[in-house]
Amino acid sequence: MSPETRQITVPQFTAMKFSGRKITMATAYDYALAGLVDAAGVEGILVGDSLSMVVQGHPNTLPVTLEEMVYHAEMVGRAVRHALVVVDMPFPSFHLGPRKAIENAGRILKETRCQAVKLEGGAEQAEVIAALVSAGIPVMAHCGLRPQSVHQLGGYRVQRDERQLLADAQAAEHAGAFAIVLECIPAKAAERISNAVKIPTIGIGAGAACDGQILVLHDLLGLNTGYVPRHAKTYAILSKTIVDAVTAFRDEVRAEKFPGEEHAF
Ligand code: KIV
Repeated sequence: MSPETRQITVPQFTAMKFSGRKITMATAYDYALAGLVDAAGVEGILVGDSLSMVVQGHPNTLPVTLEEMVYHAEMVGRAVRHALVVVDMPFPSFHLGPRKAIENAGRILKETRCQAVKLEGGAEQAEVIAALVSAGIPVMAHCGLRPQSVHQLGGYRVQRDERQLLADAQAAEHAGAFAIVLECIPAKAAERISNAVKIPTIGIGAGAACDGQILVLHDLLGLNTGYVPRHAKTYAILSKTIVDAVTAFRDEVRAEKFPGEEHAF
């Protein structure tokens, strides 16, 4: 950790692959929840473009803008003291060539307190990853199911082309990525990739052999009332807690029990 902030650095995060302890990451999108996730002691927090769906209510991750990612990353960056904070580069902020990608990722690092970016892609994004890394911008790659390519992939499907998956992970590593998210790939393929690369693999729907795991916070906390993907585990059901609390408030207001004298001046 760096002495000033005691925040996990990128090299420390990468070195965790060989520490014998699994890495834990969760997403966060605002100051209050990012502070709580950080207090739980995870090593990494991702300001994911999943916010397009779970915060903004869009059907996929395509609509969220760079401006909006920066806005949420600023809040998360202000809250986090311990974890490494990674920010997703939204579609299509890194598809217009290395120069534009550096400009956009540079904005994220300049305007938020976050330390790294994540981008979807492996071999086909190797040139962009290398350019960002040579500009001093740490990159987490994202291989397997790439939600920004949902239309091209024909839906949110498990990606099974093991040769391509390995080639993508190795290309990302050679380009200088400090870690790779592996999303929705067979557990055996994730194990082979994890053994083949020297940077940490962070799985989501990729089995137990990855060097770490990440979950979308709204799935983990049970904040979604709708569909929960098979790969997600719900550790709390906050949707019920919230509805119950607000219902109790409503009932007390209607019954003229709230506010009591102790809440009045
Ligand atoms: O945007 C996101 O939350 C992600 C995770 C699913 C890895 O990319």
